Amino acid sequence: MRGPDAILRPPATKPHYSVVRLPDHWYIACRSEELGRRKPLARTVLGIPMALFRDGSGKAGALVDRCPHRNVPLTFGRIEKGELECGYHGWRFDTAGACRAVPGLCGSDAAASPNGAGTRDEPANGAASNGHRPTARDAVAHPVVEQDGFVWVFGQPGEMPQTRPMRFELAGDPAYTTVRGHLVVEGTLHATLENILDVPHTAFLHRGLFRGNAPRNEITAVVRRGPDRVEAEFLGEPRPPGIAARLLSPTGGEVTHFDRFVLPSVAQVEYRLGEENHLLISQALTPEHDFQTRIHAAISFRLRLPGILIRPFLTPLAWYILRQDAVVLRALTGNVKRFGGERYVSTEIDLLGPHIWRLLKQAERGETQKAGEVAETRVRMTV
Ligand code: FES
Ligand SMILES: [Fe+2]
Repeated sequence: MRGPDAILRPPATKPHYSVVRLPDHWYIACRSEELGRRKPLARTVLGIPMALFRDGSGKAGALVDRCPHRNVPLTFGRIEKGELECGYHGWRFDTAGACRAVPGLCGSDAAASPNGAGTRDEPANGAASNGHRPTARDAVAHPVVEQDGFVWVFGQPGEMPQTRPMRFELAGDPAYTTVRGHLVVEGTLHATLENILDVPHTAFLHRGLFRGNAPRNEITAVVRRGPDRVEAEFLGEPRPPGIAARLLSPTGGEVTHFDRFVLPSVAQVEYRLGEENHLLISQALTPEHDFQTRIHAAISFRLRLPGILIRPFLTPLAWYILRQDAVVLRALTGNVKRFGGERYVSTEIDLLGPHIWRLLKQAERGETQKAGEVAETRVRMTV
């Protein structure tokens, strides 16, 4: 007879965790408004602790949170003269990581002069700014782009790459009302993406808010996977009966609904209800650690009802729904750790999760599907 030990013992095969690391991409480190000019902000991106700050001109910088002198976190320091000053001996760094001052050190070596005068150690990283010759005293800097109200960092240190972060297209559009929010969840990047884009759980976990408590409708989902994305289009979906949908379209009508994943970490849910109602929820995910993901969301909507009327209802409802997802992700992740690995059984209505995993793994291996190649499948399901 099998005892409880045997039942709980993990499978003999190598445990599987749906974890990928994609450093050659941009991730949101923080919102623009979180970054001040007095204290650095601590954030972790892809497991790398970072010190974020603004220089005297307001330009944002992201340095690995470790002083090259004695390993003290740079976030222990402060911003002085537009530079990040270490809290231990006061070495100062600019946004490119260049060491600009070593207090107490005499002569031309005390500060990094533009022509790189003085004795230099070998550089520890590729940081360079304004004619500064890299030295071992420099901090490690990651490229930063600030746009659409977010500070994005590149997953690798060094020079600015050719690529740019995705845009939140509707966030600055005056025809739309945009609500922003952020949340940290306990879940891998893959589990979090799948949760955001998974339809069948909405009838259960979010019962009454989207779907559920109503006759179920049979619809067709068309799934299209391209080189950097996969999306599901839902055909023949009537307006769902839940509170959220009623708020968005009191008059009902047919819904155009897309759920979309774009590499490396963007999830979009888009609804059009009738001619004038359009809702786009864009969520850019930042893997902080393998099992912890920060979500930055922008909900942009243009509705028949004025945004100012909808916003007070929609905002708390959206965060209520997100928190329900956070609770289930925490439970799921805790259980994966408790059992020493994942086990999945999927059916065809787990529409996007397996595709997302394939795209993430392909990207991790550096493989790309041919541009223009789109795989299309159709699935019947009830919602
Ligand atoms: S540890 Fe940073 S200046 Fe000494
Ligand atoms: Fe959900």
